[in-house]
Amino acid sequence: MRRAEVIRRLRESGDEPTARIVAGLPADQDGVLDPHAVDSLLITVHTELQRLSEELRIGERLVYVLGPLFTAIRATSGWPGPYRLVDIGCGLGYLVRWLAATDALGADVELVGADLDAALVGEASRLARAEALNCRFVHADAFALPKAATVYVSTGVLHHFRGPALDRFFQTQAASPAAAFCHFDIAATRLAPIGAWIFHRARMRHPLGRHDGVVSAQRAHSDETLLRAADVPGIRPLLYEPQRLANPFCTTVRPVIGVRPPLEAPFRLALGRAARHMVGPEYLAQAP
Ligand SMILES: C[S@@+](CC[C@H](N)C(=O)[O-])C[C@H]1O[C@@H](n2cnc3c(N)ncnc32)[C@H](O)[C@@H]1O
Repeated sequence: MRRAEVIRRLRESGDEPTARIVAGLPADQDGVLDPHAVDSLLITVHTELQRLSEELRIGERLVYVLGPLFTAIRATSGWPGPYRLVDIGCGLGYLVRWLAATDALGADVELVGADLDAALVGEASRLARAEALNCRFVHADAFALPKAATVYVSTGVLHHFRGPALDRFFQTQAASPAAAFCHFDIAATRLAPIGAWIFHRARMRHPLGRHDGVVSAQRAHSDETLLRAADVPGIRPLLYEPQRLANPFCTTVRPVIGVRPPLEAPFRLALGRAARHMVGPEYLAQAP
């Protein structure tokens, strides 16, 4: 990749801060960016990003929803185990490594992280080996794996997909044999951009991580966008802690969930009282 081309594209999209960071990266005599410097920058920033997942207890939040979801899947005919969870865009694999370390979902759930970036997958695999964790990471498009997922998950990925790409993201999962999906991303509250700015100033060192945190919060999808995009044939879309039911000081991230229709009732039953925080698309029609 030529440095000048990357800078031009960033400036065209109005992202001057990132253009300045790229201008500071080393390139060879032909102006091609040093791939090692790019990989090392991405690993550094994602290592800092892991602090956000730790701080927000993303593993516990996911299990709070996925525990009951797997209970429902195990109890419903049509989905015999063993099961496979695929983390789309796993980055350094914090979530999958946390699930493996805690064995929170049970031994019948295989844990796989997939990412398009080879350097991040390499580092995720190294970290998992260092702790002898029972999970694996693949450098691949999560939707082109040889074996489909039972449940697709992701954290901090949804806001990267916009418009038709967001629709395709959900349509592809609905067209797969998966039983369900559960994608956590930043809640688009009015506090999100300022909250992200404070957190990233306090906890991140690298300017790219600090800048990306605020831009990500600004790009967070609204409840309406997520419920509409996830409303695809064969899937019952559900949103946990939509804005009207949430405390903006506490709800920093929340999942959009999709289940095959026969799973909704057993899933709500397994969630218990927490199910009252989960709404379907009919919520959009209700007056505020
Ligand atoms: C912001 S990172 C999120 C990293 C990680 N989930 C975390 O919370 O630290 C988004 C990642 O999604 C990956 N990605 C996007 N589409 C993908 C796909 N179809 N399959 C696998 N990875 C994908 C990108 O390569 C990128 O590393």
